[in-house]
Amino acid sequence: MVSGYISSAFSYACLSIAAGPWVLVGLLKANPSCQNRARRAAILISLGISTAWLSASPWDLSPVGPAPGAGFVALGLALCLILLSAAAYFRTRNLAVQPGAAAQQIPDYLQRNYWWAYVHPLGVRIFERQWLVNAILWGNFSRLRDAVLDELGPEIKGHTLQVACVYGDFSVRLAEHIAKDGQLDIVDILPIQLNNLRKKLGPGAPVHAALADSSQLSFANATFNQGVLFFLLHEQPQNVRRRTLAEAIRVLKPGGKLVVVDYHMPTSRHPLRYVLQPILRVLEPYALDLWHCDICEWLPTDFRPNELRKQLFFDNLYQKVVIVV
Ligand SMILES: C[S@@+](CC[C@H](N)C(=O)[O-])C[C@H]1O[C@@H](n2cnc3c(N)ncnc32)[C@H](O)[C@@H]1O
Repeated sequence: MVSGYISSAFSYACLSIAAGPWVLVGLLKANPSCQNRARRAAILISLGISTAWLSASPWDLSPVGPAPGAGFVALGLALCLILLSAAAYFRTRNLAVQPGAAAQQIPDYLQRNYWWAYVHPLGVRIFERQWLVNAILWGNFSRLRDAVLDELGPEIKGHTLQVACVYGDFSVRLAEHIAKDGQLDIVDILPIQLNNLRKKLGPGAPVHAALADSSQLSFANATFNQGVLFFLLHEQPQNVRRRTLAEAIRVLKPGGKLVVVDYHMPTSRHPLRYVLQPILRVLEPYALDLWHCDICEWLPTDFRPNELRKQLFFDNLYQKVVIVV
């Protein structure tokens, strides 16, 4: 009897080891650079372990020896495990279609620095929480979101563009302020982010969500009355940041307003200044640019704004810049 349980445990352990790599593949799958290597390794490891195990004990499912009932228990567990790992594999294969298909379009900086936050499905599951995005902004999310909404007014008329999705209720609240005959376009480079956005908005929101690169928008010149860049610029390297700003300005109508919210250098007495600096350096390698340069430095050289205003928040750690074209 005891040997039966040992036999079951052994079979179970073998199958876990054989199936483990599939789970690993699932976890690594959305990171396309790991995908092929990980999948190949998983197949080889699984095949190797399964073959060795089966050839050692072709009949009783364990080299420990036959025991009453143990074979059935082991077989049942084995089948469950195989089914579970197959389900996990095909599920992640389907999920991977999305990031994989967009892989050529995912900018290198986004894939390299932010795959864990925006590209991987687990990232979306973890970060799409109001309290968490608020905590990441040290409790300033609502204040900064409302600063944008106040800037655009209680009823946002005409055509509005939000460049890049934002975790939390930013877009939901923005959509609520869109006038009856107005429209909000939200673009992002990741399909997974747009799907997440659609879920948050629900049906009937006056929003058109589309796949687009902020540095190469497909909209015609002078399409929008207002545009919003909420914490996008600090994630982009300088050349992309310049193109994003140029594109956001190009698609605005004369007199149109661009509202940018992002990081800024905090005051020297800011308690977080020295804590945040190393964190940003590691996790968000381009963010400190916003500490050291004025956003205007990345505007097109031939662009002369009609109005340019800057407001600082939270002891200067955050800024809102309003550019009227
Ligand atoms: C707006 S930023 C960060 C917002 C904020 N930190 C938050 O809480 O979500 C994140 C989004 O920018 C998008 N993004 C990054 N580079 C982009 C690009 N070149 N074009 C369009 N979207 C881009 C990412 O896919 C991601 O959904």
